[in-house]
Amino acid sequence: MAAQSRIPGFRDESPSGRRALAAECAGVPSDALEAWESGGLGLEQADHMIENVVGTFGMPIGVATNFTVNGSDVLVPMVTEEPSVVAAASNAARIARERGGFRTSSSAPIMQAQVQVLDVADPDGARVRLLEAAEELILLANDQDPKLVSLGGGALDLKVRTVEGRNDRYVVVHLVVDVRDAMGANAVNTMAEAVADRVGQIAGGRVLLRILTNKADMRLARARAVFSAEALGGAEVVGDLVHAAKLAEIDPYRAATHNKGIMNGVTAVVLATGNDTRAVEAGAHSHAVGARGQYTALSHFEVDRDGDLVGTLELPMPVGLVGGATTVHAAAQAAVRMLGVGSASGLAEIITAVGLAQNFAALRALATEGIQRGHMSLHARNIAISVGATAEEIPEVVGRLIADRAIRTDRAEQVLADIRSSGS
Ligand code: MEV
Repeated sequence: MAAQSRIPGFRDESPSGRRALAAECAGVPSDALEAWESGGLGLEQADHMIENVVGTFGMPIGVATNFTVNGSDVLVPMVTEEPSVVAAASNAARIARERGGFRTSSSAPIMQAQVQVLDVADPDGARVRLLEAAEELILLANDQDPKLVSLGGGALDLKVRTVEGRNDRYVVVHLVVDVRDAMGANAVNTMAEAVADRVGQIAGGRVLLRILTNKADMRLARARAVFSAEALGGAEVVGDLVHAAKLAEIDPYRAATHNKGIMNGVTAVVLATGNDTRAVEAGAHSHAVGARGQYTALSHFEVDRDGDLVGTLELPMPVGLVGGATTVHAAAQAAVRMLGVGSASGLAEIITAVGLAQNFAALRALATEGIQRGHMSLHARNIAISVGATAEEIPEVVGRLIADRAIRTDRAEQVLADIRSSGS
């Protein structure tokens, strides 16, 4: 069954009811998402993952609804501690789907490793000697990972830069590697270490660093969506959203917050799928430094000929489906199953669509009613649930907490008691 991401009434279900519905709508067996019940990570397994383990650390996982990516519905797993994020992504996706949802694309899954060479007498000569030896070095790199090569990946190219500091000039070799469905850090680091001695010999210098670059600017994913002016409340709101986005393009103080909003969505899916959040964040923020060296917005918003708002986002997306926590963590495996993705690029593209949705939702809130109102109603809803309000009682409790501007547990208990005693 093709996935169905419009699920009316989803949020009114219990967590187990939502899991059952999500499994049904994603077309996976009902037990495929069960790992989320307990968190999916036993103590013994955790003890093998990192050092000095003392326990595990729980976080909520939610499912964002309404997403359509390249014409197919997809349910999106999101791990975050921040209220409003999942609801905001779902709302944005609902508006985007009116105009066909998100369109995405991506480059080949190419990562790069750097090998730094010191004390080179003739850096320009060394650069050209290394390029002459490119084929030999690429073969040496590929000897490290025949499996990757058999899958159609492996080292493809070699680039050599000279990087100048105040007193030093380094020769820096970049190994350009197609890592297929892996995040690729292990593959490229192994290759960099393997070629290091030979690189040092050819350059006539001493090799120091041999490590991937997280500025993964050859592994880009893009998303685009149209948000109808009508759904946004008219041309004025569209214009204000464009102004809001524009400030992030020209002012680094705003850009940091704007991009943080994008990463609210991105990081939540990266984490849910067991991928390396820091690698994606480092890639995103380094990509946000524009050609003139100024930190700027990762996304852009403009008005199309119909007066609708067009949002676009492009950023490095080094995520994988094989290796690391994605392979061993049952909750991450459940996330990948629900997403129904078959390749790292497919996953990267969905994550980028979620980043764009999140960004749009934040801009919309900021350019209209402000961010606090939405936050407050979700907060009030959580408080209402925590004091035992039923699905029928929640709207009334939430409404009164907001009207009283007293979103507190003691007030919620009082309100609930009043509702019950008056039978309203
Ligand atoms: C809050 O987590 C994210 C926002 O600040 C993003 C933004 O300002 O665009 C709302």
